[in-house]
Amino acid sequence: MDVSSAIDQRLSVRAYQDKPVPSDLLKSILTEAQRSPSGGNLQPWRVIALTGTAQQDVINLATEKLAQNPRGEPTDRPVYPESLWEPYRSRRFEIGEALYAALDIPREDKLKRLSWFANNYRFFGAPVGLMMVIDERMGHGQWAHMGMFMQSVALLAVENGLGTCMQECWGILRTSLKEHLQLQPTEMLYCGIALGYPDMEHPANQVRSDRAPLNEFAEFRN
Ligand SMILES: Cc1cc2nc3c(=O)[nH]c(=O)nc-3n(C[C@H](O)[C@H](O)[C@H](O)COP(=O)(O)O)c2cc1C
Repeated sequence: MDVSSAIDQRLSVRAYQDKPVPSDLLKSILTEAQRSPSGGNLQPWRVIALTGTAQQDVINLATEKLAQNPRGEPTDRPVYPESLWEPYRSRRFEIGEALYAALDIPREDKLKRLSWFANNYRFFGAPVGLMMVIDERMGHGQWAHMGMFMQSVALLAVENGLGTCMQECWGILRTSLKEHLQLQPTEMLYCGIALGYPDMEHPANQVRSDRAPLNEFAEFRN
C-alpha cells in the first residue's frame, strides 16, 4: 500500500470485529511508528498498550468513575478551547451530525446520543487500547510530536488491515488513570487510541468526514 492510499483510507473506526490483534503485529506497528520525527529527536511519547484484563480494568474504572460523575474530572488541558469560533465550531458540529445521522440518532434523543458516546470508554469494542503518555513538563511542541507518532500508528494500522480511533475523550479521566496506570509523578495521559480490525458493516464506519478545500487552509506566495 502506498502512503497516499493509507492516508485516504484512514478513518476514525468506531466499531470493531471481535478479533484479537496478534501481539507481534502490535509490536511491529509501534516499532515502525517509532521512526516518526520529533523536535530534537526527543521522542516524547510513551505508550501503554492495553489488552485483555488490563484493558477491561480500565473500562471498568471508566464505567465506575463516569457513573459517579458523568462530566469527568477537572483538567487544565481541555480538548478544545472554551468556546469555539468559526469555522471550527461548524466543523465540529457537522462531523457530530454526520455521525449521528449515520447511526440514525436524532438531535432530540440526547440520551441515545450520550449512550453512543459512552462507547468511547469501551474503546468502541476494539481489542487494543493504546494509552499515550507524555511528561507534564513538555510543551506544545512535544504534544505536536506525539501527534506525529499517533498518525504513523494510524497509517501503519491501515496498511495492516487494522483501524484506529484517536480518543482524547480519555482526558476527562486523567487523574484516575494516572493513578490506575501507575504513571510517574511527572507523567500524564494525553490521549487513547482504539486499535483493532474494523467492522466495516457498522453504520458508524460509513461516515466519510469532510475536509476544507485547499484554498481555505493554504495560500501560495511567490
Ligand atoms: C487527537 C485526536 C483525538 C480524538 N478524540 C476522539 C474521541 O475522543 N472520540 C472520537 O469518537 N473521536 C475522536 N477523534 C476523531 C475525530 O473526530 C476525527 O479524526 C475527525 O472527525 C475526522 O474524521 P476521520 O478521522 O474519520 O477522518 C479524535 C481525533 C484526534 C486526531
